[in-house]
Amino acid sequence: MEFPEKTPGYCGGGNKMLTLEGKERFTANITGDEETGLGRWTLEDFSKAMREAKNKEGKTLREPMLPYNGMTDLEVKAIWAYLQTIPKIKNVVDRRWDQD
Ligand code: HEM
Repeated sequence: MEFPEKTPGYCGGGNKMLTLEGKERFTANITGDEETGLGRWTLEDFSKAMREAKNKEGKTLREPMLPYNGMTDLEVKAIWAYLQTIPKIKNVVDRRWDQD
């Protein structure tokens, strides 16, 4: 695929993943949408999510999202810069925090 960024739903979240125990969990919307994505996050918020697996509120992100704690500042910045270039998608994901 030459332009993955142009495929429907790209990085808009809601993809069903499974934990090691087989529990369903859905990927987050990491596009820049202000209401349903990372539009109100700062680079610092994003850095915490990538390296410490914490969301903007400090809550721990669950598997299969992992803390990529070996990531350098430059790597975090590069991914963040890339995410600013992809289309924003309005998509509320059922994160089901209540279930565990
Ligand atoms: C460069 C790669 C990745 C980036 C930039 C990234 C970014 C993020 C961010 C910023 C969040 C939190 C968003 C929020 O709380 O609103 C998140 C959550 C999540 N990510 Fe990743 N992620 C990456 C790789 C992965 C991989 C490889 C997987 C699965 C194999 C994954 C699965 C998930 C899931 C399931 C969540 C939601 C976790 C929860 O609700 O507790 N991510 N990701």
